[in-house]
Amino acid sequence: MTEYLKMDAPATERRLDDMAQGLVGAPLDRPEGPLKVTGSATYADEWQIDGMVHGVMVRAPGNSGRVVLTNSDAVAEMPGVLAVIQDDRLLRNPAQGTADAAPIQGARHAAYHGQLIAVVVAETFEQARHAAQSLQVTLEDAEMVPVDPATAATEPRENQALDQGDLEAAMQQAACRVDVVYTTPSHSSSAMEPHASIASWDGEELTLRGSYQMLKYNRNELADSLGVHPDRVRIVSPYVGGGFGSKLGLAPEAVAASIAAKQLGRPVSVALQRPQVYEATMRRSETRQRVRLAADAAGRLIGLGHDARVSNLPGETFAEPVLQASHFLYAGANRKMSLELARLHRLCAGSVRAPGEAVGVTVLENAMDELAQEMGIDPVELRLRNIPDEDPESGKAFSSRRFRDALESGAEAFGWADRPGVKERREGEWLIGYGMASAARINVLKESEARVTLLPDGTARVETDMTDIGTGTYAILGQIAGEMLGLPYEKVDVRLGDTTLPPAAGSGGSWGASSSGTSVYLACEAIRRQLAERLDVSEPDLMLKDGCVTYANQTKSLTEVLGGDEIAKLGHVVPGETSKAVRQATFGAYFAEVAVHAASGETRVRRMHGSFAAGRILNAKTARSQCLGGMTFGIGIALTEEMAFDPRDGHVTNSNLAEYHIPVNADVPQLTVELLEERDDWASPLQAKGIGELGICGAAAAITNAIYNATGVRVRDYPATLDKVI
Ligand code: MOS
Repeated sequence: MTEYLKMDAPATERRLDDMAQGLVGAPLDRPEGPLKVTGSATYADEWQIDGMVHGVMVRAPGNSGRVVLTNSDAVAEMPGVLAVIQDDRLLRNPAQGTADAAPIQGARHAAYHGQLIAVVVAETFEQARHAAQSLQVTLEDAEMVPVDPATAATEPRENQALDQGDLEAAMQQAACRVDVVYTTPSHSSSAMEPHASIASWDGEELTLRGSYQMLKYNRNELADSLGVHPDRVRIVSPYVGGGFGSKLGLAPEAVAASIAAKQLGRPVSVALQRPQVYEATMRRSETRQRVRLAADAAGRLIGLGHDARVSNLPGETFAEPVLQASHFLYAGANRKMSLELARLHRLCAGSVRAPGEAVGVTVLENAMDELAQEMGIDPVELRLRNIPDEDPESGKAFSSRRFRDALESGAEAFGWADRPGVKERREGEWLIGYGMASAARINVLKESEARVTLLPDGTARVETDMTDIGTGTYAILGQIAGEMLGLPYEKVDVRLGDTTLPPAAGSGGSWGASSSGTSVYLACEAIRRQLAERLDVSEPDLMLKDGCVTYANQTKSLTEVLGGDEIAKLGHVVPGETSKAVRQATFGAYFAEVAVHAASGETRVRRMHGSFAAGRILNAKTARSQCLGGMTFGIGIALTEEMAFDPRDGHVTNSNLAEYHIPVNADVPQLTVELLEERDDWASPLQAKGIGELGICGAAAAITNAIYNATGVRVRDYPATLDKVI
């Protein structure tokens, strides 16, 4: 029996507030943590399978032309080499994390430098690598193709365009106006665990041990790439060493391993090398953003414009949704927004950690800082004056929104009142500045299923193909089931990451916890009802706690009530029409203190605080960790992160962790996080919204605004490296 919910109306009860054990929300440790820190959690490339051989992928040396392997016969004769495989199916682009992403490249035709166009398989990894390096790849009839977003042809994205009121007139009438252009570079996900897959066939049945975020989609993508029925494909992905969007869709190594394993009749392992992760998985598009703000004399926005240019390969549908939060964060009757997509031959652009808001809110928040400075209004006060009563475009109410509280509480926690004037505070050679920014991110619910089984011994099992990409899924699903069934946390066995289990939403877009958590909640509700039936009482009269059920003044152990039976139920949630009724989003505020060296321009972030509201917090520890991670991304976006492309052929010149600079421990100061109490009845029966990506959405602006406060320098071209600050 399935407990099915289409989320069409707000939840009418807040059951999790009144539960007996208080597991949900508690800062519990991850149950799989010890496996990870002792090296006993098996990641994709760590499975040991009898007869397994190794594949290494080969890159296109240019961005156009027909791919020809000129010495493949000789390479095939090298020691240990089993196959040199060039197959049209390898040329599929990394998909976009949506089921409908289509391959766009002509077969055997390069579209970008570094594209993975062949795989060499050998008995050992070393033999495969040597042979792959020896393979000569020629691109015939290569042409000059655009690689630079500034000169490439662009296409408007009509469905993103907004023209409400008259922004031009508002700009004319404004007491104060800001009209600025900012640029942000491409970013790489570059998760700690590179993309890796081991494929093994048993007849016509394929098992892929991989590292992916959304298994039910990945299974369809793989089946589609190979031309087999999805029922023939199983993906196993119990532990994922980070994804950040790059594992929403399949990367080429999964297809390569599957084709090679079929051809050779042996299990094949293919792991991308770090440069290949940078060159051939997914990038966040670079952006050029123009923000226009028109304010009246009281600092109230009468107009807001946001026009962005992003890029992607020809034929790709994804366009970094830069404007996403600009639609609802601030008031302003006259609004104009547009997005255009430049077509160029850099690697595929797709979802990278908080696609849209990570750079869109950041630039909007820089522009707001510029307006505050122009008007002499405290930046926090300027935001407070511009919180709209309702969605400024649709007129819909917000489902829940503790934005004002986050601004005020964050300012208090940080000590914002002590903010220096521009270039006013100096400590020896260091210029000290404070900066702040708002945080905002859309909230999404996705279809998700889970099975929960209450076992005769009084333990429970949760099963779903949901993934845990380091975010805490194992923990929160155990907490929800434990709470609903009155079991200690340790008595719930959570099994994830296998497509033989009920299909979940997957991890992405911050929807994972609330969507998969709701399916578990629904299954548990059905189990509770069945228990009540057995005891001939009504379900609300049951109190489940510590493995016992209390009802009508008596207490029995669950094992006794079960009497040797098990109860298994499926929970299934699908999104409904709530977005027609309300605007759902998460909000927050960041505060940062920086020290900028007066001579070198080096910026050190000294401390940073974030206050966030994202509905019910399911685990205070893992939620906080997500925010810490987001703010750390923010430091990277502000100061270091930048994919550098060769202007001649668009190849990635810093395709490694030594040259693609991310903040290391020494760059990350004391970060503090406050999670505000909130319930969102429209979001799900859990009243939880997504928090995974909220901590990155605007974080970088708090730092660059602090640099301005310290130095008087506005860096409008990210990242704010020292050469730009001086
Ligand atoms: Mo996230 S970029 O949707 O994994």
